[in-house]
Amino acid sequence: MVLFRMLPKIRRVAILGGGPSGVVAAKCLLSEGLTPAIFEQRSSFGGVWNYTPETKSRLEHIPQEDPNLDDEPVPDSHGSEKPVFMSPVYNELETNIPKDLMVFNKTPFDERLQLFPGHEDTKLYVQEFSKGLENYTEFNRRVVKLVRKDGLQWEIETQDVVSAETEKKVFDAVIIATGHYNVPYIPPIDGIEEFERRYPGSILHSKYFRVADGYKGKRVIVVGNSASGIDIASQISEVSQIPLYQSCRSKGAYKDFPLLAPEKIKIVPTIERFVPDDRTVVFSDGTVEKNIDVILFCTGYLHSLPFLEESAKPSERMITDGFYIHRLYQHLFYIPQPTLSIVGLPTKVIPFPFVETQAAVVAGVYSGRLGLPSEESMSKWEKDLLEQKPGDRHFHFLTFPQDADYMDILNEWSEEKESDGKRALYQPTKWGGKERWIRKNTPKIKAAFLVAKSEGRIVKTLEELGFHYEGDKEI
Ligand SMILES: Cc1cc2nc3c(=O)[nH]c(=O)nc-3n(C[C@H](O)[C@H](O)[C@H](O)COP(=O)(O)OP(=O)(O)OC[C@H]3O[C@@H](n4cnc5c(N)ncnc54)[C@H](O)[C@@H]3O)c2cc1C
Ligand SMILES: NC(=O)c1ccc[n+]([C@@H]2O[C@H](COP(=O)([O-])OP(=O)(O)OC[C@H]3O[C@@H](n4cnc5c(N)ncnc54)[C@H](OP(=O)(O)O)[C@@H]3O)[C@@H](O)[C@H]2O)c1
Repeated sequence: MVLFRMLPKIRRVAILGGGPSGVVAAKCLLSEGLTPAIFEQRSSFGGVWNYTPETKSRLEHIPQEDPNLDDEPVPDSHGSEKPVFMSPVYNELETNIPKDLMVFNKTPFDERLQLFPGHEDTKLYVQEFSKGLENYTEFNRRVVKLVRKDGLQWEIETQDVVSAETEKKVFDAVIIATGHYNVPYIPPIDGIEEFERRYPGSILHSKYFRVADGYKGKRVIVVGNSASGIDIASQISEVSQIPLYQSCRSKGAYKDFPLLAPEKIKIVPTIERFVPDDRTVVFSDGTVEKNIDVILFCTGYLHSLPFLEESAKPSERMITDGFYIHRLYQHLFYIPQPTLSIVGLPTKVIPFPFVETQAAVVAGVYSGRLGLPSEESMSKWEKDLLEQKPGDRHFHFLTFPQDADYMDILNEWSEEKESDGKRALYQPTKWGGKERWIRKNTPKIKAAFLVAKSEGRIVKTLEELGFHYEGDKEI
């Protein structure tokens, strides 16, 4: 990698968001001698792992294609004056990554936990990891504006979520760590708006799913078969009318997880149109289902930076339709002005160790330890990727082994100046053969775990499920 461009001296670095990505970025900055300032709208660390029972039973925007939709908080159901920023995590959610892999470096999960921990234990894990960062964090402060100043600096306007008082501060660099599961996406389908108008609350999104109880006895279609679609359809089919219809446009995660209860879930193609009379749904193969009560869209999220004042130059815009973020080098540095970066953007990765490798590079660049390629090289990187993957929702997908290879590249970048004695104190996770093997087998391991769970077994280790690592040989 040819790296020769150093940024001017950076002193003040803001981190937007105190979820897993924000806190690991803060640790990396500290290890490079920089002092982070974290702004977090919630009152605790942990990001989406802060489960919120509060939810919505009706959506204001259907279809929902607006990446700038305001992720408005709702009142706290326990009466606190602090509003609640709804998390997409549902009550029965367990991780879909084994705890051996879903870790920050040198920080294992409690060995007494099951192999795929629940959301509460995951939150506690992140919060334990975040200890000590409170002194660098302003909780209950929402970033409402991010403006590029003359030169390389950025102005951030934040708002107190209780008093609504605002404040502006200028930083030399900004790391965006606000997550990518905030703004739900509901595709435009013929008749969808009218259907919801006639039957309010019939069109929903997985972001607001909490428990299956409300679906009891209902005729339900779940749209999408990625992680949310599969898990939520399985939970709802326990109480809804049978079959529950699951609308899939590709094999999705069903290529990894065979249907556990095929008698309860019927796979159907994509929805062609909604006809309000008789609550009718027409599928793309011409089949029709009537008297449908709820259509739950598990169709993912839009990339959103609602606080960003976009450049006046169209060629420098970061958000257009929300399917991907433009003008980034390595899904990380904003090419026209690399004192802005985004961590935790790629999907289909193992987020915790993945973001460590990104944060280590960002911190190294901002401390002046590491260099960046020229603007021209960074633009070429994006252009080449766009040629391979046209700008759609797959742009930031890094499916295995792309994620592992990316982490290796970033680790190499991060260690570039070690021979000159310039070593960062924070060492990100490095995957060896075993980690790659777990990564590759994660869907199989999760499927075996679910079978064991359905038999009433609580599994804590890979070995209990029959997965033993022996070099490249698998038993
Ligand atoms: C349903 C679901 C299940 C998942 N399951 C897994 C799993 O099993 N394993 C796994 O590793 N990952 C899982 N993930 C991915 C998960 O997003 C990551 O584990 C991790 O939370 C990403 O961390 P983050 O800090 O990038 O984002 P987030 O966790 O989203 O944190 C972002 C933080 O930024 C704050 N923020 C946002 N906007 C503002 C603003 N304007 N001002 C101030 N603060 C702001 C938010 O309040 C939040 O605290 C799941 C995601 C979802 C949606
Ligand atoms: N721990 C867990 O068990 C768990 C549970 C839920 C979510 N998660 C995590 O949460 C994140 C989000 O997952 P997600 O499942 O909500 O979203 P997602 O992975 O983005 O999946 C979106 C799904 O919607 C489908 N889709 C999108 N647009 C569509 C359209 N226009 N018509 C029909 N189908 C459409 C996609 O189909 P295609 O695949 O064909 O594009 C895909 O099946 C992921 O990181 C996931 O791992 C984890």
